[in-house]
Amino acid sequence: MKKLPVVLVKLKLVLIFLFIQYAGSAQSSAPTWARETAADKEKRMQWWTHDRFGMFIHWGLYALPARHEWVQNRERITPENYRKYFDYFNPDMFDPAQWAKEAKAAGMKYVVLTTKHHEGFCLWDSKFTDYKVTNTPYKKDLLKSFVDAFRAEGIRIGFYYSLIDWHHPDFVYDGGHPPTPVTKEEREKANAGRDMRRYQEYMRNQVTELLTKYGKIDQLFFDFSYAGKGRNEWDSENLLKLVRKLQPEIIVNDRLDLNETTWGWDYKTPEQFMPKEWVKVNGQKVPWETCQTFSGSWGYFRDEYSWKSPEQLVVMLAETVSKGGNLLLNVGPTARGNFDERASERLAALGKWMKYNSPAVYGCTEAPEQFKKPANSILTYNASTKRLYIHVLEWPFKTLLLEGYKGRFKYAQLLQDGSEIRFSTNTKSGGHTTETSGENDVMLQLPVQKPDSLVPVIELILE
Ligand code: GLC
Repeated sequence: MKKLPVVLVKLKLVLIFLFIQYAGSAQSSAPTWARETAADKEKRMQWWTHDRFGMFIHWGLYALPARHEWVQNRERITPENYRKYFDYFNPDMFDPAQWAKEAKAAGMKYVVLTTKHHEGFCLWDSKFTDYKVTNTPYKKDLLKSFVDAFRAEGIRIGFYYSLIDWHHPDFVYDGGHPPTPVTKEEREKANAGRDMRRYQEYMRNQVTELLTKYGKIDQLFFDFSYAGKGRNEWDSENLLKLVRKLQPEIIVNDRLDLNETTWGWDYKTPEQFMPKEWVKVNGQKVPWETCQTFSGSWGYFRDEYSWKSPEQLVVMLAETVSKGGNLLLNVGPTARGNFDERASERLAALGKWMKYNSPAVYGCTEAPEQFKKPANSILTYNASTKRLYIHVLEWPFKTLLLEGYKGRFKYAQLLQDGSEIRFSTNTKSGGHTTETSGENDVMLQLPVQKPDSLVPVIELILE
């Protein structure tokens, strides 16, 4: 066989090399900086998946009007008229140690604070704007003391950062934002000279401050994209690249409009509703965190009377975990800087429940399919300790039937006080009993009185 000339051999090698490159990139379309194996991602997110329960905090100038954090937009308040809230911002009762204490007592393991919400006001002493807490009568940076106080309680730190900015002079007006001007013509006129590229740089600068000046940041919550403002307008890819460079371990939400990628988000964020099952993307179960409010609005809203009951909140937490998710439950501190009594009461109630029942939350997830949900209950499951938790929503009279559970568990107890729950198999009708349980069923024998707990939990120690 005739030897190929050297040039052709070289050409062939180049072609092979290019092919390998191409095949490699086709396999993973992620940019190099974003590549990570599924196992590494799972490891990075391990603490978060384990902890399950965090506190969201929405705090900004909107605490003063106390009529929703979107008040500026909803009521179309001009910047001049909104200014008064800046001029009067002076939370004399702000005590982050107290916030952290309440979060911890409620069983919350991480916190996410609005460093800047849509109004554009910054809770830290940013070098890149004057619209910040240090220029209000309060004068001090809030973020540093906040971070220190929560860390001191062993709570992990997350920052919320609004992509939307109703204050920044380069944020291009669109139909939804900012509050004024109102008509299309007014908007177009006002948009002359606005430049989203400068705004992108502002965001990168601010995110750099947030991710370099406050130690390890565990979670980042960007908010949010919509038709007309998305990955191109935010320059999402570069923003995320910067985030990953500054805090490689950080967990980032899904609102940068990079949702069709596998690398542009870590978890899904269903908001203010309960997903019917474990959240899926392309048929695959993915990490998710639902954020929920106590009363409907995120910022402090004095006249809102739609507060959820403590029991509802406990059920919400259990149900979220039973579907493999996390719960981020929001508090909107007042203009004085404290938690409203209604919020504190609910946190305390959650804490009372968590004090006894946290093993049914931390490290737990959806129960394996073979465990059928008993009547009026929610199941959570801890794979490493091999325990199944039955959250009993409606306390039954004397017995609870576990269909198909025979031989699946060794022992049952009330989680609240570790008291034994006796059980029988093969219950036969006879005497005054008409009940017959199936061959593989188990009948738990319960006290007539509902144990003193918002939602009593029965722990099964599995085989
Ligand atoms: C929505 C709202 C915002 C709130 C957020 C919480 O995006 O615009 O006010 O901060 O939900 O997830």
